[in-house]
Amino acid sequence: MNPYAPGAGTPPPELAGRDDLLRSMQVALARVRRRSPTKSVLMVGLRGVGKTVLLSRFRDDAERAGLQTVWIEAPESRSLPAILAPQLRQALIRLSRSERARDLARRGLRALAGFAKALRVTYEDIQVGLDLEPEAGLADSGDLEHDLQELLEVVGNAAAAAETALVLFIDELQYVAEEELAALIIALLRSAQRQLPVVLVGAGLPQLRGRMGRAKSYAERLFDFPEVGPLPSAAARVAISKPAEDAGVAFREEALRRIVEETQGYPYFLQEWGKHVWNIAATSPITEEDVATASESAVAALDESFFRVRFDRLTPSEKAYLRAMAELGPGPHRSGDIAEQLHRKVTSLGPVRSHLISKGMVWSPSHGDTAFTVPLFDEFMRRIMPGNQWRS
Ligand SMILES: Nc1ncnc2c1ncn2[C@@H]1O[C@H](COP(=O)(O)OP(=O)(O)O)[C@@H](O)[C@H]1O
Ligand SMILES: [Mg+2]
Repeated sequence: MNPYAPGAGTPPPELAGRDDLLRSMQVALARVRRRSPTKSVLMVGLRGVGKTVLLSRFRDDAERAGLQTVWIEAPESRSLPAILAPQLRQALIRLSRSERARDLARRGLRALAGFAKALRVTYEDIQVGLDLEPEAGLADSGDLEHDLQELLEVVGNAAAAAETALVLFIDELQYVAEEELAALIIALLRSAQRQLPVVLVGAGLPQLRGRMGRAKSYAERLFDFPEVGPLPSAAARVAISKPAEDAGVAFREEALRRIVEETQGYPYFLQEWGKHVWNIAATSPITEEDVATASESAVAALDESFFRVRFDRLTPSEKAYLRAMAELGPGPHRSGDIAEQLHRKVTSLGPVRSHLISKGMVWSPSHGDTAFTVPLFDEFMRRIMPGNQWRS
């Protein structure tokens, strides 16, 4: 059986090189449980580095520690209140089963009813079952910033009464609109000030950090932003060699070196290379020649999946923009240089660039710079759009 596991959010056979992050998260969860002040944590990194896998690992740890968890993947086109409400409802129903928390949790369900009814005017996509009648004046003003604060406060009180904590896990947080992010940040700040046991553990593309800062300037102090990147060479080797070793298969030194080189240590690519080299190798130890053969099919597989799903969501002008970036190399690139490739003015390309940012395809590491959010995307763009046609 092939042990390797390429795929979005698919747990790897060996979670290599993340011991520091796992340890600091364990410390944070222990603090939450003791009701000590705890910073919310937002992991940032490119596509395929292993953010979702870490997030779900943290959630398992939190549940095992007896904490109440909520899991949300922010989609591109739905509002935060709409995705939050059904999950908070479930947490409140669970909390209401605790004798000590029953009354507060039921008050939380009333708050949720007021929240959903009042906000539905603005956020038409809110759909949540209502268990109790609203309480007049509780989280029902219709103003998200105000109502979310009140709602989280009531939920936090219920969690405290049940001697547990509420941990909100939110993936793909960069897709949440800025004013909704602002409301979430304020609600978390208020909870922290009231010493309520509520924290956020989130993950998103690198643009998340800037979005948080723009939504609320003090967000940078309120949160930790650990960066999740490619694995250092030693950890990348372990990610490949350990699962094989467990199955009694060895890698030659040059074979491992070659895989690390080709994948640049990116976890998604490591899994893809592992899978293909495993299929190709006839005997142990696996050699560099096996890797060379596997590289071809690994690249082809990525082109048809990891890269392709992103490419297919692009308009022709977005494709041309990314192709122009790819012409310049891995990046980041100056807006002026990209425009020059396309024989266009920088200002006329502004809207294309913004769309690419909101689609999560590129981000801006510093003013006027643009970088891919998908590792090795420049090479893919040159493969899929060869030649010069895109310039016209
Ligand atoms: N630390 C790691 N070691 C080895 N493989 C990993 C590691 N973290 C993630 N992976 C693999 O990388 C791929 C992408 O993980 P995912 O969590 O979906 O990334 P992201 O959410 O950052 O896009 C998955 O196939 C997963 O098994
Ligand atoms: Mg992910």
